[in-house]
Amino acid sequence: MSAIVIVVDPSAPDPAALAPAAAVLRDGGLVAFPTETVYGLGANALDAAAVARIFVAKGRPAHDPLIVHVLDLAGAAEVAAELPPLARRLAEHFWPGPLTLVLPRSSALPPAVSAGLDSVALRSPAHPVARALLAAAGLPVAAPSANRFGHVSPTTARHVLADLGERVDVVVDGGPATLGVESTVVDVRGAVPLVLRPGGVTLEQLAAVAPGSHLAQRQGEPTGPQASPGLLSRHYAPRALVCLVQGAPEMVARAMVEIAERLAARGRRVGALVAAEDLAAFDAGPDIQRICLGGLDDPASAARQLYAALHDLDAAGVDWIVARDWGDAGLGLALRDRLTRAAEGRAVDTRAGPWDHVWAEVAAADRRRFGDGHTPGG
Ligand code: TXA
Ligand code: MG
Repeated sequence: MSAIVIVVDPSAPDPAALAPAAAVLRDGGLVAFPTETVYGLGANALDAAAVARIFVAKGRPAHDPLIVHVLDLAGAAEVAAELPPLARRLAEHFWPGPLTLVLPRSSALPPAVSAGLDSVALRSPAHPVARALLAAAGLPVAAPSANRFGHVSPTTARHVLADLGERVDVVVDGGPATLGVESTVVDVRGAVPLVLRPGGVTLEQLAAVAPGSHLAQRQGEPTGPQASPGLLSRHYAPRALVCLVQGAPEMVARAMVEIAERLAARGRRVGALVAAEDLAAFDAGPDIQRICLGGLDDPASAARQLYAALHDLDAAGVDWIVARDWGDAGLGLALRDRLTRAAEGRAVDTRAGPWDHVWAEVAAADRRRFGDGHTPGG
């Protein structure tokens, strides 16, 4: 059975239209809904059986905790055991919005929500449709991104239907997500915010409110024991294999074209995620499908389009995606995080000199996926 789709006005959703979705949540069902970051797959966070259905629908391992969505600090107080002053300060600045706070978990929540951890991740979404649904349901709503585990996150209802269509009861269609990357996940149980996953609230914004805010782990480092399972190495990944390229702008364009040419020579269909500044180099290069995510000075525009572009290149059937880096300022950090994971760490840094070792990893991944022959990949 495919999901029931409810189309609503993203800026002024009709409460009557959302009533059936709220009822499904109260009855223990699954409702996919838009937030400003990505679409979420929601269930009643207080109902252990409903929460279990999320893990089944996504194929998500039970050790990966969910984010619980609430309307405000009062809602947070019902599911967190305590709200330390740092948490209150960040919530006052950034809620509603793309910031998720990791706090001590209240015993009101079934342990499975947090994968048995003694913490819980809480977020108050800004999207009018998400807020109207939370208000209508009158419940805290557990909601990971509405995709199968490890896949690219959905930024439209169509993405949700394509990935999870038979596995959800209702999909609320409120148009494309406006931000396009997930929330920033911050552990606020210590003296300063520890960023477990960079996202929609930038490190600069956090540091302006809470000096000392820092990343739990440097970007691109091999992952050790997981503080946050969103840090797993292959995640946010399209079906196509991905290679990331970073460095000075002209060098990046040249390296991307070279990698694309080498892959095309192996018989692969190649797609590229490029900036406006790269287009000239690609015009002279091989005939590959490229999607321009905007100017390098506008990582927010790239973030908004990234997941739809990955979905589109998968739909076009490319074997490889060569993607450029957008720097580490602002939303560039979240882009780098997602692309590094999509690329399973295959990242060329043109500033670091010759990149033969990265090409060797690309070629090895290519052989593992497509074999040794020079025939077009399937
Ligand atoms: O923007 C978002 O955050 C979206 C929308 C739907 O709200 N949700 C989302 O959920 O991205 P999900 O499940 O795809 O990612 C949740 C992230 C994971 O990296 C998870 O490991 C981390 O939050 N997380 C959840 N609970 C945690 C906890 N108690 N401690 C540490 N990390 C936690
Ligand atoms: Mg996710």
